[in-house]
Amino acid sequence: LERTFIAIKPDGVQRGLVSEILSRFERKGFKLVAIKLVVPSKEFAQKHYHDLKDRPFFNGLCDFLSSGPVLAMVWEGEGVIKYGRKLIGATDPQKSEPGTIRGDLAVVVGRNIIHGSDGPETAKAEIALWFEPRDLVSYTSNEEKWIYGVN
Ligand code: GTP
Ligand code: MG
Repeated sequence: LERTFIAIKPDGVQRGLVSEILSRFERKGFKLVAIKLVVPSKEFAQKHYHDLKDRPFFNGLCDFLSSGPVLAMVWEGEGVIKYGRKLIGATDPQKSEPGTIRGDLAVVVGRNIIHGSDGPETAKAEIALWFEPRDLVSYTSNEEKWIYGVN
């Protein structure tokens, strides 16, 4: 099954939105396979966002990501990379649909509370950046046959 990297940024953790966000992924039927709370260094944040290094907001973005606890996670499920982004909503919360995490819970682009990998390559790279292979827990949940309809 597909895996993606999801992180609740310092604003989401500080605002007490952790359980709200986790429950949206859980209720959908996605499976949590790794989770940890970390304060990333600025250098680490720069690695995470290296694709954006030429953007004017890059420095502020990296300062922000390293400004407090981040809840780093790996979620597993069919189509989780793309659908995870759908649960999260558009980058700018002003453009996110109601019903999405950013649409319901955030207001400005620089404080959009959550990150999700944008494709299979990034998912692989981000999981490898944030987690050791042994941190990823493989298990079967009893609900899977009800979620996927397999016997
Ligand atoms: P992530 O899931 O966090 O990667 O967001 P995204 O994939 O929806 O957007 P993108 O990767 O393009 O940008 C990464 C992050 O940079 C966003 O989540 C925002 O927090 C921030 N960001 C993007 N565009 C802007 C912008 O125009 N201004 C500011 N201040 N921040 C931005
Ligand atoms: Mg992105």
